Amino acid sequence: MTENSVEAAVREKYGAIAKAVSKSGGCCGPTACGCGDPITSNLYSDTETQELPPDAVAVSLGCGNPTALLQLEPGQTVLDLGSGGGIDVLLSAKHVGPTGKVYGLDMTDEMLALARENQRKAGATNVEFLSGTIEAIPLPDNSVDVIISNCVINLSTDKDAVLREAFRVLKPGGRFAVSDVVVRGHVPPDLRRSMELWAGCIAGALEEHEYDAKLRAAGFTEVEVEAWRIYNVDDVRSFLTETGFDVDQLAPEVEGRFASAFVRARKPETNSCCGPECCA
Ligand SMILES: C[S@@+](CC[C@H](N)C(=O)[O-])C[C@H]1O[C@@H](n2cnc3c(N)ncnc32)[C@H](O)[C@@H]1O
Repeated sequence: MTENSVEAAVREKYGAIAKAVSKSGGCCGPTACGCGDPITSNLYSDTETQELPPDAVAVSLGCGNPTALLQLEPGQTVLDLGSGGGIDVLLSAKHVGPTGKVYGLDMTDEMLALARENQRKAGATNVEFLSGTIEAIPLPDNSVDVIISNCVINLSTDKDAVLREAFRVLKPGGRFAVSDVVVRGHVPPDLRRSMELWAGCIAGALEEHEYDAKLRAAGFTEVEVEAWRIYNVDDVRSFLTETGFDVDQLAPEVEGRFASAFVRARKPETNSCCGPECCA
C-alpha cells in the first residue's frame, strides 16, 4: 500500500458516497464509515440535527460529535479537518455565530460539492469549504482558535504531518478537539494491510498511546485520548465480512480492539520569556 494508493482509495470511497447521497437525497448504504453502521450511528441529538439540511445528516460519516467535546464561543474561528458533507461545520457555525468563521477542509471534490450545497440550504454565511489535504492545510500560521475533526485523521498515511499542520495553524492557546477511531492492543497485520479497511477508518487507526505521543511530539500539551465507544466483534462483523475476512476466526483478535475516542489537546500559549535569565 503506497501513500498515493491509499489516498486514491479514500477519495474514491467518499466521492462515491457523496454522489450517492446527492442523487438519492438520503442514506447510501456502505458500512463502517458509511451510513447506518455502529460506528457512525447515534452520534448527534435530535435537537442538533433537526435544523440541519437532511443531506448533511444523511452523509454524517463520523465516529463522534466533536462540537460536543468543548464549548465553542461566539466570534471564534474553527477548522474542521476532513469536513465531508459538512455536518460538524454547520453545527459549529451556529455556536460561533455571525462574528465567527468556520472552515471545512476536504480533498474529495464530490464531498465539497455536497457540503457547499448543504451550506446553501442551511443559509450559513459564516462558513467556507476549502479544497486541500489535511497534511498541507491551506491556511496561515496562528489563524484558528479550534480544530475539530470527525473520523478522518485515521485515514491519513502521514499523521505526523497532519498534527504538525494542525499545530501550525492553531493560535497560541488554541484547542484541538477531535473524534477518531483508535486501536487498543495488537491488531492482526492482515487487517492493517487491507486497503478497504484503511478507507473504512479501521486499518489506519493509531493506538491510544501512539496518538498521545504524536500529539506531544507535534508540540501539543494537555493531551487526552479517551475511548468512549468500544466496538465488539458484531459491530465490525458485516464490514470485515464484506472485506473478505473470516470474522469468527479473527474474533479474539478483534473483540474490543477498536474504539471511538475523544482526542483533546492544546497549543501552548506563546512564551513571552526572553532567555534563560528572565525565566529563572
Ligand atoms: C469518514 S469521512 C468523515 C466526514 C465528516 N468528518 C463527517 O463526520 O461526516 C472522511 C472525510 O475526510 C476526507 N478526507 C480523508 N482523508 C483526507 C485528507 N488526507 N485530506 C483531506 N480530506 C480527507 C474524505 O474525503 C471524507 O470526506
